[in-house]
Amino acid sequence: MTAAIPQTVSGARSPGSARSEEPLVAIEGLNLTLEVGGEKRQVLRDVSLTIGRGEALGLVGESGAGKSMTLRTLARLLPERAQTTGSIRFDGQDLLSLRGDALRRKRGDLAVIFQDPRAYINPVRRIGDFLTEQLRTLGRTDRHEATRRAQQMLSEVGITDTARRMRQYPGDLSGGMLQRVMIAAALLGEPKLILADEPTTALDVTTQSEVMAILDELRYNAGVSLLFITHDLDLAAAVCDRTAVMYAGQIVESRESEALHHNPRHPYTAALAGARPDLERPRTRLAAIPGRPIGAWEAEATCAFAVRCPHRLPSCTESGPVPLTYESGDAVRCLRAADLEAQLRGDTE
Ligand SMILES: Nc1ncnc2c1ncn2[C@@H]1O[C@H](COP(=O)(O)OP(=O)(O)O)[C@@H](O)[C@H]1O
Ligand SMILES: [Mg+2]
Repeated sequence: MTAAIPQTVSGARSPGSARSEEPLVAIEGLNLTLEVGGEKRQVLRDVSLTIGRGEALGLVGESGAGKSMTLRTLARLLPERAQTTGSIRFDGQDLLSLRGDALRRKRGDLAVIFQDPRAYINPVRRIGDFLTEQLRTLGRTDRHEATRRAQQMLSEVGITDTARRMRQYPGDLSGGMLQRVMIAAALLGEPKLILADEPTTALDVTTQSEVMAILDELRYNAGVSLLFITHDLDLAAAVCDRTAVMYAGQIVESRESEALHHNPRHPYTAALAGARPDLERPRTRLAAIPGRPIGAWEAEATCAFAVRCPHRLPSCTESGPVPLTYESGDAVRCLRAADLEAQLRGDTE
């Protein structure tokens, strides 16, 4: 179910200048192969995307599309024996070639928020120690100053009675409260980029929108870029300047969120938009996408979505790999993008 989008979530506000300067993140032609039971499996194929400074990019797609693996490649948190080709530039440096101290320093510029905070927070450490430890390992902040800043950040994420909260353990806090603590921890590190992997999916609907609003507002005010992973196209559109849609380990479309949402150019985006439950209109047609999502390693060397695509032509499965074509910053990976435009708009209405 889609969370109601609170008023405080500010929606698309792309800073006009962000496109002219070098983006904070530029991923180009990224391929990722993992090993499963001794067998190599390609999970990302030719992934290219950019995130501008201060920009929020949504990464949307069904389960297994490769969203988390894209994030993990960026955060350099890949499973053992993972192999990557392609390039990731992060703040002017080639991220994939960084090692040792240089990598550790760069890692300090990005913060990750996961779906399940309990899996990433030590249950026997107090909240206050967790937060101040982050600060003290990152900088030369003394204990007193670290405590003051941690408490201030807790109140910024909407937590009251901060002195008492600092003394509590993760188990004393609800999921929503703990996710606020994770947002506070992320922001305390003064990152340039926050990577959030379905940060509100495990929360109830009301808490979801509160937590999302806090993350959105605080990172926007601090000028921090955001990669926001979700399976919810509506939520991505509400929070992110641009949205990228992933299918079978590939980006199939990326553009400004509003345009992508209301005027999709890829049949998969249109299908996702048509499949969403709409609370305001009667559900005349729930365009459940037929077939199952596939992994990059299962995809044909032509269009990966063709087998499920209602707009497929014989030519879609006869040509070679479908390139991601660009037009004034927008990208789409569909041979029929131009002639389908009007029809796809109809599909989502
Ligand atoms: N540790 C792993 N080893 C091998 N394959 C994995 C591992 N984690 C995920 N995968 C596979 O990689 C693909 C992409 O997964 P993931 O990025 O987690 O998808 P998403 O986040 O979009 O749901 C999936 O097919 C998944 O089965
Ligand atoms: Mg995932």
